[in-house]
Amino acid sequence: MKIVTVVGARPQFIKAAVISSEFEKIENVEEVIIHTGQHYDSKMSDIFFKEMGIPEPKYFLSINNASHGKMTGNMLIEIEKILVNEKPDLVLLYGDTNSTLAGALAAVKLKIKIAHVESGLRNHDLTIPEEVNRIFADSVSNIVFYPTDLALQNLIEEGYDKKNDALLVRSGDIMEDAAYLFKEHMVWPSNLPINVDDEFVLATLHRAGNTDDADRLKNIVEGINRIHAVTPVVLPIHPRTAKRLTELNIQLDAHIIEPIGYFEMLSLLDKCQLVLTDSGGVQKESYFFNKVSLIFAEYSPWKELVEAGFNVLVDDNSELIYNAFVANKGRKVEKTDNFYGGGEARHVIIGSIQAYLKDKTC
Ligand code: UD1
Ligand code: UDP
Repeated sequence: MKIVTVVGARPQFIKAAVISSEFEKIENVEEVIIHTGQHYDSKMSDIFFKEMGIPEPKYFLSINNASHGKMTGNMLIEIEKILVNEKPDLVLLYGDTNSTLAGALAAVKLKIKIAHVESGLRNHDLTIPEEVNRIFADSVSNIVFYPTDLALQNLIEEGYDKKNDALLVRSGDIMEDAAYLFKEHMVWPSNLPINVDDEFVLATLHRAGNTDDADRLKNIVEGINRIHAVTPVVLPIHPRTAKRLTELNIQLDAHIIEPIGYFEMLSLLDKCQLVLTDSGGVQKESYFFNKVSLIFAEYSPWKELVEAGFNVLVDDNSELIYNAFVANKGRKVEKTDNFYGGGEARHVIIGSIQAYLKDKTC
């Protein structure tokens, strides 16, 4: 079985780290990795390949820093050439980035089977770039791996239960596998101006909707600044956000550090008092580490955590951000429901792909 995996952005490296290391153990599976180059700084890309031992991509496309159309179009052109040459049995895609979209489009046009991990998530808002990417990737996938009840509900509302050519599989969330598998490697970041035993809040911020809109960015920063005046905020900064803060001359009071590796991130998640984020991955990881997250959004596709009170939607309201911090700082989350499969998603994903391909070749 030949599988081509398309990755390009930070969260996809972490997801692929889990699955690709399993593929390496299976004799009759050959995995070819395409890295689109969407994320390219060493601290946004290389570090993950090195620390998690992700197999080296056979193809590195260096396509980044462009408008959505240009980026996706250039990826499509290059991925198509590779797929024609490699002739895989299946293309494996993760999440909802432009790299996911390009991989899906290239594969479906060549009539190559597609498996999509993290299907069914919806914001019900087409102005969010990831929403467009995930709806398209889901719609052309043959194996639709959905993580949650809500994701299944979304897929049913869109008629997926009646689609004969789509196999719907509840996989749980591959990020939970990653968190538990790599937890033993966690390491405290070097050069942090606080100690491991100090109280601190962990923050990340990068969504286009928050960074591109100057008013939203200013409001969120105001909320973070108020918190930092009371409890230190540690913020590994996404390059997109760093650029916007400079462009708009916005003063962010926090311990701002460069993007960090996953093992360092796990350590901060483990030791922090609270998480502030707009990241899809980090809002679940806070829950895996029994912490509350305040989310800079008015809706989350991981709604089960909001309904259970583990995540709080604070949007860009600085007053709400500060008050939710006061109410939730240090609050330990007790996991009652098994929302995400308990860290076993990789077995479901790999087993289903093997069975599917075996069935198709018989
Ligand atoms: C992308 C994904 C988003 C995901 C995020 C993970 C899309 C539409 N968005 O958003 O879903 O949550 O990755 O982090 O695919 N940059 C650098 N160095 C890098 C990477 C990015 O400087 O290594 C800067 C560049 O100026 C670039 C900007 O960040 O133009 C945005 O990068 P891009 O990959 O387009 O989008 P993200 O915001 O990272
Ligand atoms: N992450 C990391 N280093 C950082 C920031 C995030 O390793 O400096 C990890 C984080 O723990 C999570 C993943 O990157 O596993 C999430 O990526 P991101 O927030 O960029 O994307 P999203 O999940 O929102 O698509």
